[in-house]
Amino acid sequence: ALPARVRIHEVGPRDGLQNEKTAVPTAVKAEFIRRLAAAGLSTVEATSFVHPKWVPQLADAEELFPLLHGLPVRLPVLVPNERGLDRALALGAREVAVFASATESFARANLNRTVDEALAMFEPVVIRAIEAGLKVRGYLSMCFGDPWEGAVPVGQVVRVTKALADMGCDELSLGDTIGVATPGHVQRLLTELDGAGVPVSRLAVHFHDTYGQALSNTLAALRHGVTTVDASAGGLGGCPYAKSATGNLATEDLVWMLDGLGIETGVDLAALTATSVWMAEQLGRPSPSRTVRALSHK
Ligand code: HMG
Ligand code: MG
Repeated sequence: ALPARVRIHEVGPRDGLQNEKTAVPTAVKAEFIRRLAAAGLSTVEATSFVHPKWVPQLADAEELFPLLHGLPVRLPVLVPNERGLDRALALGAREVAVFASATESFARANLNRTVDEALAMFEPVVIRAIEAGLKVRGYLSMCFGDPWEGAVPVGQVVRVTKALADMGCDELSLGDTIGVATPGHVQRLLTELDGAGVPVSRLAVHFHDTYGQALSNTLAALRHGVTTVDASAGGLGGCPYAKSATGNLATEDLVWMLDGLGIETGVDLAALTATSVWMAEQLGRPSPSRTVRALSHK
């Protein structure tokens, strides 16, 4: 059985723009987020409060976030540590996300920590965020394959997911950072997480489309009961600290499939596509999304 409704967690302004080579002006980012909200996306991940040397593309978080004041949508932001949380709280953020890795190689590359050191770094962040009444998401990267380590054992993923859940993260987003997952693997991981007592209602999926499997993987997750799906408008994105990570699942491709299945998202596909066409003009290159290309072809 498929769900009647899916919540799309839009990551374009964060996961998408963190990987752009050209510097996107802060005002353009704010306009992008406003247009995404107007297209009906109820959650738009806005930016990251990480070290500006690690992700220079998002170094304007302090300038950007106040421009979004009053937008009637959820605006989560990434925070790796207490310094990041302090910055987010100072600006009135109501939702934060920490981001762990299932593999040691990526924990080192992305966070300069071992897996367990990173979890220890997140713990006070999650505790303080919950005390402050915030919603907290826990990302888990490299859930299927890792560019340095190859296939990632399911047990390793389950251990770190459980650690984030036990820490108090409301939602756990399972990331296929380099886009190597296939539907059977998705099914196996979700089944193991059930067995480990992590409720499917707390899970989200975060697929990248490197091998063209993101939609198939999404469908496998929906059949398993997942109802929160991460996607990036126009298919922007990747991860600066994972070689071979290409674009995220494009939000338009996802909405095309969900519309066809009669699954409600609240998203206006025409308005969303127009937003990605506009953003592609700002970036000076066409959107990689098949749906954007098909719908904007004159
Ligand atoms: P580090 O070098 O180990 O930092 O980096 P540190 O803790 O040793 O601190 C060094 C200095 O940085 C200190 O300053 C800190 O104050 C400062 P000093 O005292 O030397 O002057 N600092 C900060 N400044 C501003 N904001 C902060 C902050 N933290 C420390 N938050 C660190 C460790 C975690 C900071 C670094 O590795 C980092 O920022 N990493 C972020 C990497 C990132 O953002 N990656 C992309 C997001 S993850 C992703 O895209 C995957 C995902 O989409 C899911 C998927 O697809 O898999 C989520
Ligand atoms: Mg990602």
